[in-house]
Amino acid sequence: MTIGKFITFEGGEGAGKSTQVRLLSSSLQRLGKKVVMTREPGGSLKAESIRKLLLEGRVAKFGPFAEALLFSIARDDHLESVIRPTLKKGNWVICDRFMDSTMAYQGAGGNLPVSLIRALERTVVGDTIPDLTILIDLPPEIGLGRAQARQKQTTGGDADRFESMDMKFHTRLRQAFLDIARKDPERCVVFDGQVPPDELAKRIWELVSQRYALIPQG
Ligand code: TMP
Repeated sequence: MTIGKFITFEGGEGAGKSTQVRLLSSSLQRLGKKVVMTREPGGSLKAESIRKLLLEGRVAKFGPFAEALLFSIARDDHLESVIRPTLKKGNWVICDRFMDSTMAYQGAGGNLPVSLIRALERTVVGDTIPDLTILIDLPPEIGLGRAQARQKQTTGGDADRFESMDMKFHTRLRQAFLDIARKDPERCVVFDGQVPPDELAKRIWELVSQRYALIPQG
């Protein structure tokens, strides 16, 4: 059975992940690869409805454990209905956030024990671990500035549940993502989110095309 490739993008707020998910997916599609571009929380019908609850902050009052459980429930449906079937067909999945976001946001950010997050990962993700995780690293003050500017354009300025957390929270997140990458260098590659998006896309493409022996872009 052919198994496709599973690539995730991770990082703090305003890191530019969504742009890079789009650019990488387009580069792969230009080579004739079948690509499913998706995101978390969300990516499937049921998970998108859970996304709304989480990002509107309606679960916040139950605490980070409840949030970690709900992110995991959404992930379980996303994996079952979108990610695993796509990989089974031999196609590519490019996902904006995945399990490392739970470790960073609910673990480091929400002070949940690493062992608890790992137990959720083992139960929900199992062996569907990403082949490659691209971490876009950015100082939180820059990322939050970008996220706020984007919010102003789309919603008139309302920050979501996690964007509205204080700078200490976002600094912990950044460190947590860097720790995850340091401990798992085979899977995770860190990129500087301060370089212009086109240059960043070029660097990411160099990595992906070399790692999977794809024809370099002309
Ligand atoms: P985004 O679409 O801007 O990435 O928003 C998703 C938000 O949800 C972001 O603030 C990070 C947060 N999040 C978690 O807290 N835990 C998770 O497991 C995931 C996937 C996202």
